[in-house]
Order: sequence, then structure tokens, then C-alpha cells
Amino acid sequence: MDRFIIHGGRPLKGEIVIGGAKNAGLKLMVAGLLTSERLILSNIPRIADMATMRDLLCQHGIAIEDVTEDGSTCSIGGEITSTEAPYEIVSKMRASILVLGPLLARCGVARVSLPGGCAIGTRPVDLHLKGLETLGAKIHLENGYINASAPQGLHGDKIILPFASVGATENLLMAATLAKGRTSIINAAREPEIADLAECLTRMGAKISGIGSSTLVIDGVEALHGAEHRIMPDRIECGTYACAAGITGGDLLLKGGRADDLGAVVRTLEETGVEVFQEPDGLRVRRTGALRGVDIMTEPYPGFPTDMQAQFMAMLAVAEGASMITETIFENRFMHVPELNRMGARINVHGSSAIIRGVHALSGAPVMATDLRASFSLIIAGLAAHGETILSRVYHLDRGYEAVERKLSACGAMIERVRD
Ligand code: UD1
Repeated sequence: MDRFIIHGGRPLKGEIVIGGAKNAGLKLMVAGLLTSERLILSNIPRIADMATMRDLLCQHGIAIEDVTEDGSTCSIGGEITSTEAPYEIVSKMRASILVLGPLLARCGVARVSLPGGCAIGTRPVDLHLKGLETLGAKIHLENGYINASAPQGLHGDKIILPFASVGATENLLMAATLAKGRTSIINAAREPEIADLAECLTRMGAKISGIGSSTLVIDGVEALHGAEHRIMPDRIECGTYACAAGITGGDLLLKGGRADDLGAVVRTLEETGVEVFQEPDGLRVRRTGALRGVDIMTEPYPGFPTDMQAQFMAMLAVAEGASMITETIFENRFMHVPELNRMGARINVHGSSAIIRGVHALSGAPVMATDLRASFSLIIAGLAAHGETILSRVYHLDRGYEAVERKLSACGAMIERVRD
């Protein structure tokens, strides 16, 4: 297992190119299941989760070919030869559940392993299943698998989501593109990655209105066709490097970053004392004054994203005054707290809230990554800490961040990967 060794205390200065969005790219690859023609995706991030999705699609029979040598553009297409998503892959990556709706819509049958819990919570998939049942699917759970069938095809209907789940919205949106008649998804999640998916589906011939809103209306079509689509920039990667610039008192141009996708994050950065400017080729972030404590509550988009919570916590650990972070999306997403406290932070968790009392400085320590975003919060802390931080279990980070050490080193950080 690889480790990172970080020597903190150097302000980050320079440019970082923001890659394609993980949370859009994974679903856009799945959209390839909805047509026998070729879907060409560009701006593909080179991260482990995309490779896992590639493995999953390949075992469904789909051929994936690199169009460019660097693998940043690929073509997806072919006939589906297996409608089963096995436990070995689904347990590795929860987003695998997204193949359920498309397989069902295209083939009338699907068998997908139940994802089970994960480090940040129990994460049930009941909303995905109830929504598909509303569209006419018969579902039964057996031996840890979801067995779904719709021999006559899916039919459009009105689905009201009790919670604006990102994954359920995407699964149902993709299934509805090939259902007979009209589907409305009420209280749909509004994350920009869903709009990116909907735009790609539209290019493939889907009829979708209300893109970007909480009501999606889909008129099913007989078949979708091939298309080309560029994956949107990763707003969470962008926000993450913004926190790294903030904590180190740096000045970074995050190339490709878009303030429009990051409303609540930009506002919160500004409240903490980090300046943010949209420039023609990206987002500039810098801090010259003091960092100030703020209160944050995670919410579905356009609220503050749960995927940015850990990174802000690291930054607030050295801010003036106290901050409070309340996590409303996942029940167990404070696993970075004991690790940050080992680096000298003063953070107490009370139920779903964490109180962060700013300290003057953090000190380097051996720490352990527990999930994707928590891992980066420890890097952010390490970049500002006195002395050496050794972060183990870096594989969590490799799932969703591309070339972390290269991007940070190019901006002056002292960070090195040690391979075991
Ligand atoms: C997606 C993102 C993840 C992000 C999350 C919230 C991907 C690959 N992952 O995850 O990075 O943190 O959105 O922005 O895009 N829930 C249910 N029943 C369901 C579905 C969800 O109870 O059927 C609950 C979950 O347990 C969780 C909450 O709803 O507590 C949010 O989940 P959801 O919005 O579905 O997140 P994901 O799509 O899993």
C-alpha cells in the first residue's frame, strides 16, 4: 500500500489543471449501456474508479477503446452479453448500482449485487428500487443480489423522491429514457453532474426537460444513438485544491474550474477569508489575510456539498475562532476527526455536528486515510503542518484524485509517494 510523505509549511503557488469530474464520468460511462452505437467521451479522469467502471462495463460485454493515446478520450459501445453486475465489482465501487436502470431499460432484466454499507454510512438503495418499481419493474432481493425484470419493458409514471438522492435520480433518469411514455421525477437531485448526464443523454436522442431543476420530465424513445460528449470539470477537485491554497496562504489558478458549479463553496471560502475570482481560463484562489472560522451545514445541491466537508474541516482547524460543521447527508462522515486531532486540531463531535476550535498550528504525524475525501483533508492538514506527515492507505485517494503528488509538487508542495 502506497503512502504519502508530506513536509508542510510551504504556500502553494502556481497552476493546477482540474480534471474531468469523477461523479459525472462514472455515470456517463454507464450511459453507454443505453445504446448499441458508439458513445465517445472526452476529458476522462485517470482515476481508479473510472478503471473499475471500465471493468464492470467490459464484463457486461461492452467494448471500450481508447481514442487518444493518453486515455483521456474513449469510445464505448457494443452488445450487452451479460446483465449481471457481480459482487466483486459492486462491493469495490458503489456507483456500480447505476447499471441497474440502464440494463433493465435496454434488456428487460438485470441482476446487480446489493452494494452494502461503506465507510461513510449504510447508504441504502431503496429509492432506486422503489422508483424502478413505479416504472413497472418487478424486483426481488435474494442472496445479496437485486433481481429485476420488466419483460414488457418499463413504462413512464410519476416518481416522487422523498429525498433528492443523486444516484436514484440518475438511475431513474437513464431508465426513463427508454421507457414507454412520460416519466416525471419530482424532487430530483440538482447536482451539476446530473445536468451533465442529462445533456449527454439528450445528445444521444433522449427527450428530457427540466434539466438542472428539481423536476425532470422524460419522454421515452424507442432507442438512443451514439454521441460525443466532454465530461464537465470536477468541481470537488477544484474546491479541494482551493482549500489547499487557503490553508497554506497560497495563490493558485485552478484551470478549468467554474465558480458557477461551486456557489456555496465559493461563498464559504470567501467567508473564511479566501479570495476567489473567476478568470477566463479558471478559478483563482488566494489568501493573504487571516483565516476565519465559519459555520457550515451540508445539504443537497445547491447547498454546501458533503464531498467538501472534510477538506473545509482541515482548513478551519487553523482558523481564528470556532466553527461548526453539521453533516446532514451521511451519518458517519467524521472519521477524519480523530486523525486531524492527532495532528493537533481541537475538534469535538456531537452527533451530526463537529465543533472546531481553531489552533495556531498543526503538527505533522502519521495518519491514516479512511475514505476518499477524508484522505485529502489529511493532505490539506499536512501541507500546513509543521514537520512531517505520513499518510497511509493512499489507495482511497487514488480512487478519485488524479496525479495528486504531481499537481501539488508543481505548486511548491513537498509531497512524495512511497510505494511499498
Ligand atoms: C453521490 C456521490 C457522492 C456524494 C453524494 C451526495 C457519486 C458516485 N457519488 O453519492 O460523492 O457524496 O452523491 O452528494 O456520484 N439514500 C437512501 N436511499 C437511497 C439512496 C440514497 O437512503 O436509495 C441516502 C444515502 O444513504 C445518503 C443520502 O441518501 O444518506 C444521499 O445519497 P445519494 O444522494 O444517493 O448519494 P450517492 O448517489 O450515493
